[in-house]
Amino acid sequence: MDIERTLAALTLPEKAALLSGKNNWYTAAINRLDIPALMMTDGPSGLRKQDSSAGANDINAAVTAITYPAAALNASTWNQPLLRQLGEHLGEEARAEQVSLLLGPGVNLKRSPLGGRNFEYFSEDPLVAGKLGSAYVQGVQSKHVGVSVKHFAANNRENQRFTASSDMSQRTLRELYLRTFEIIIKAALPATVMTSYNKINGTLNSQNQRLLRRILRDEWGFHGAVMSDWGAVADHPAALRAGLDLEMPGKGQASVDEIIHAVETGELDEGTLNKSVRHLLHVVDNWLPAPKPGKYDHVAHHQFARKLADDGIVLLKNHQQELPLTPDHAGKVVVIGELADHPRYQGAGSSHVNPSDLVTPLAALKKSGLSADYYPGYRIDQSETDDSLVQTALKAAKTADHVIIFAGYPASAESEGFDKSSLMLPENQTDLIGSLSKVNAHTTVVLQNGSAVEMPWIQNIAAVVETYLAGEAVGEATWDVITGAVNPSGHLAETFPLKLTDTPMSPTFGQDPHHEYYSEGIFMGYRYYDTHEMHVLFPFGHGLSYTSFEYTNLAIDQNERGATVTFDVTNTGDYAGQAVPQLYVANHASHAPMPTKELRAFTKIMVEPGKTEPVTLKLERRDFSWWCERNHRWQADSGDYEIMIGESSRDMRLQTKLTMDFKNSPAPVTSETYLSTIIQDPELLKIFKETIIAPQANGDNSGNPFVDTDENGESLALQDRMFLNMPLRAVIALGTPAKLINNFIFVANQRR
Ligand code: BGC
Repeated sequence: MDIERTLAALTLPEKAALLSGKNNWYTAAINRLDIPALMMTDGPSGLRKQDSSAGANDINAAVTAITYPAAALNASTWNQPLLRQLGEHLGEEARAEQVSLLLGPGVNLKRSPLGGRNFEYFSEDPLVAGKLGSAYVQGVQSKHVGVSVKHFAANNRENQRFTASSDMSQRTLRELYLRTFEIIIKAALPATVMTSYNKINGTLNSQNQRLLRRILRDEWGFHGAVMSDWGAVADHPAALRAGLDLEMPGKGQASVDEIIHAVETGELDEGTLNKSVRHLLHVVDNWLPAPKPGKYDHVAHHQFARKLADDGIVLLKNHQQELPLTPDHAGKVVVIGELADHPRYQGAGSSHVNPSDLVTPLAALKKSGLSADYYPGYRIDQSETDDSLVQTALKAAKTADHVIIFAGYPASAESEGFDKSSLMLPENQTDLIGSLSKVNAHTTVVLQNGSAVEMPWIQNIAAVVETYLAGEAVGEATWDVITGAVNPSGHLAETFPLKLTDTPMSPTFGQDPHHEYYSEGIFMGYRYYDTHEMHVLFPFGHGLSYTSFEYTNLAIDQNERGATVTFDVTNTGDYAGQAVPQLYVANHASHAPMPTKELRAFTKIMVEPGKTEPVTLKLERRDFSWWCERNHRWQADSGDYEIMIGESSRDMRLQTKLTMDFKNSPAPVTSETYLSTIIQDPELLKIFKETIIAPQANGDNSGNPFVDTDENGESLALQDRMFLNMPLRAVIALGTPAKLINNFIFVANQRR
């Protein structure tokens, strides 16, 4: 599409229609100019494409699709290549269904374990969420399907999500709640970003110019379109002025009329409107649907859902090698809990998928090789104890060699749209687990839940397997891990606190209908528990294996831009297994308050028994930086740091000190910076082209020497020695608007 020509041909009502979603799942088409409608559907864990026969508001009437594990389990894989493959699978499915945009991934941080939507989010840590989210986006988009990274930003509670304000310092916002988005925008270039419902420090996100223009576009270089969450737009012209492009879904003709009215009365400048139309046309042009419906291999995709769950399931506790229960040596096994028969395997709300082929744990039991009797023990839709179910289960458990109890929440307890009020499992399940542990010391608890739970029974239980919401292959994957067909390699991407009142925000979370006070600041998740040396149930990054790993030979190669960290991992046990080395940095150089350590790199590697694998992890300047509110920029201080390599935030295997010298850090860009400096620095040159040359070439300002190019498309002025010897402030005299120069200076300083 010739975007500029199309833009010029559009009438005002047509432009207004393009920026107002046609209905829940489509943008408007302009047939006169061959602009097609784009279809979007929810993800993030499977397609929720509305069935054509279903009513618009029947959110669960979707075509059948592969139901992959929820993000909580996907994150526990810590496996970037696997997340990319998840994206590729989803992309293929979306393409087959002629979907142009997949509404995911959801990448908000799990600030409180009460957050109703935690199951749909990756982590309490922005690096884990950012890296895994990037891999997912790259995978989907590699199949010619765009994504919508959501929910931008600081949407960490569900109660009053349409109106509450997330109130926090700029440092907290930058280092935690924006950081994930920053990583994904820069690494994966998502097609669109979805703004969240909430406010940040009093300003509605869909109307927040600083967030949508200054930070997202100017600083991070986002080029896609910004869409609203469903119904998040309160004042449409104000949202467009602030940088929102597409209202989803539109309010029909009313949305179109309000834009037309705003332009006609001067409330909305047509140039601003054009910018949004341009963004939308680019998205339409880049992410056209497949010309006809296609097919994908359902069986292979189901197997991938199983592989993903296998990789993410976390073995939390394994007293005296209770697990694995190999079929030949397991003896008499008793399976208890209605969740074995009616599993929780996905979250509720907009991510709900109609599964293609749900395999329950009970159905998968036979194929696992284990033979076991099953007793429901409790009813999942009740919290009261059913005595007769309990007595039958206890009687069977008494004489068993091993007991496996499935426990978790009913679907009605965990969903988008509301927060939880407790971290306790239903009372009937808690009591039953306690009773079972008294009659049989070989009791394993298998959990199906969206986020951290309290475990008052943990001391007397032999093993705990966290399967979160494991997708449609839940049954197969659960037994894969329990029988040892798969060696568990999942690690928690969130801390499990001992009790709700240990969480730093517990006195205030969700209390004020209008405000959520982030008074813990940057001390959230392990950054809080570790700094205050608190006991936790299971630390961030924790996950056991049926083998053991030894870490040796830590070496660091550093310069003023960062460091390269190398070490070896040896499998010292009998099973092949995957290790998840985690690199934490402790900052002793800065005077600002710092957590005792922060995760700065991680990987996942397969190591055969007795073998050693080398690992290399890279640290950049940003990994030593913090957000300085006074200077409005990332600051890396010279001085002492500590590098720690661990298997969780509480299990360090290697550590060493290093002194960083950032004195040679680049000088800030000012109006006195010479063009010759800019042309010698590839990063600065890139920003110069983006923020000064491109907008002028787009027609904002013609007749400017920077716009004329040679046959390679390079600016002629930037090759002219006379121009190179000019500082930025003199460039204004050549016809470049001061606002573009100031913007370049701002963006350059933010990105360096
Ligand atoms: C959710 C989004 C979702 C949208 C469309 C909203 O309520 O917050 O995550 O993509 O609905 O279903």
